[in-house]
Amino acid sequence: MRALTFLSLLATFFAGAAQAATPAAPPQFGTLFVGFLDVDLPNVETINNSTFGTRVYAPITGGNLTDPTSGKLAATVLPGSADTGVISNSGAFFPVVSLPLRWEVDQKLAYLHVTGIGKYFTSDLLYVHLETASETYSALNSRFLVANLTFVEGDESHPVLTVFGTV
Ligand SMILES: *[C@@H]1O[C@H](CO)[C@@H](O)[C@H](O)[C@H]1NC(C)=O
Ligand SMILES: *[C@@H]1O[C@H](CO)[C@@H](O)[C@H](O)[C@H]1NC(C)=O
Ligand SMILES: *[C@@H]1O[C@H](CO)[C@@H](O)[C@H](O)[C@H]1NC(C)=O
Ligand SMILES: *[C@@H]1O[C@H](CO)[C@@H](O)[C@H](O)[C@H]1NC(C)=O
Repeated sequence: MRALTFLSLLATFFAGAAQAATPAAPPQFGTLFVGFLDVDLPNVETINNSTFGTRVYAPITGGNLTDPTSGKLAATVLPGSADTGVISNSGAFFPVVSLPLRWEVDQKLAYLHVTGIGKYFTSDLLYVHLETASETYSALNSRFLVANLTFVEGDESHPVLTVFGTV
């Protein structure tokens, strides 16, 4: 009788737990920007066989982001950053980039910290943390942003960056 009570308690507990674990709705994204990064191919270097795998140094000399609706320039990528991600021993690439931008509308700056997972010089799926003082774009400071960086065959120096934000 005691065991039975315990079992029914367990059943009640798990019934409650199952109810609490209703999955959240998947996030919905809209396309915010699309553009190119300028990768300084001749100066790309790697630190092979380090503790974590292969550490990359891929300098980014510039680039741009346009508004996909109007086709107008939204921001310019400032020179001086680099992808310092790592190619893991499993083969997956984990990009890490701190990207500075200047908005076209007010010439204010933005700082993007970009991390993710992908395939080296092929395609990456990224999380984007953005900070800006621009009034036009300040709403992006608290928006969840992701991006897709895809290299075009035949032009490895100009991968396409598409930035998405939750709607
Ligand atoms: C170092 O790693 C890079 C990226 O995987 C590769 O292209 C290069 O050939 C490697 N160099 C050596 C010396 O193994
Ligand atoms: C990587 O480094 C380790 C430790 O120094 C060494 O045993 C191994 O042979 C190296 N592998 C390659 C591919 O260079
Ligand atoms: C963006 O950069 C690409 C690659 O460097 C270039 O071809 C294109 O003209 C630039 N677009 C704008 C709007 O500046
Ligand atoms: C990233 O964009 C490329 C080019 O549009 C596409 O082929 C690829 O499937 C995208 N990756 C993801 C994970 O959505």
